[in-house]
Amino acid sequence: MDTRWQVAKDDADWLRQALAYVRAAEARALAGRGAFHIVLAGGGTPRKVYERLAQEAHDWAHWHIWFGDERCLPVDDPERNSRMAFEALLSKVPIPAQNIHVIPAELGAAVAAERYAQELAGVHAFDLVLLGLGEDGHTASLFPGHDWGEAIDAPPVLAVLDAPKPPPERVSLSARRLNCACVVLCLVTGAGKREAVAAWRGGVALPVAAIRPACGVDVLLDPAAAVA
Ligand code: 6PG
Repeated sequence: MDTRWQVAKDDADWLRQALAYVRAAEARALAGRGAFHIVLAGGGTPRKVYERLAQEAHDWAHWHIWFGDERCLPVDDPERNSRMAFEALLSKVPIPAQNIHVIPAELGAAVAAERYAQELAGVHAFDLVLLGLGEDGHTASLFPGHDWGEAIDAPPVLAVLDAPKPPPERVSLSARRLNCACVVLCLVTGAGKREAVAAWRGGVALPVAAIRPACGVDVLLDPAAAVA
């Protein structure tokens, strides 16, 4: 399994590369099966990618939106990952409502994890998984010292009850389910991520390093996040 590191020249190049990556994954998926199943990353890093995607022409009718994780907050809470995605992209493009699969995290982690696992049943490998990277090496809501769901019999969706990054209660796709992907792109910007990037490159067993799909992982860094 390869991890391929790409350092952008500047912010504009970082965004350009991220968009090109999505476009290529979409084209492959549509050519292959006539649908594009994409897992959106949460947090703040991907917002500018989503905002720019909303300004482009895509085959939106064939996009299927999934979420890598969600915070157990009310649906309209400003801190919800789904709210960011709707503000930046999903409210601006004609993706059929039935193709947008929000994690019902407002129901509580255990119930939401169960419901999302049912919704995912029968869904093939994701065509593209977008991930973020936390300063402690977490990704989605898979945190150091917690169960990342790597085992072959791990559930597809995990209830997270004591996350170190607020809110403590979250729902996350497991490492095993995130690995069931044709393409994985980790989007990393900012000097705050430099240590996590260095640890990851140094082989530290971080949650993000548990994402090891057969296709490998592409990591797109801006200059500030790149290890000197
Ligand atoms: C979350 C995210 C989380 C995020 C990283 C990076 O719900 O917090 O899913 O995994 O991607 O913490 O967050 P930033 O992009 O805001 O730095």
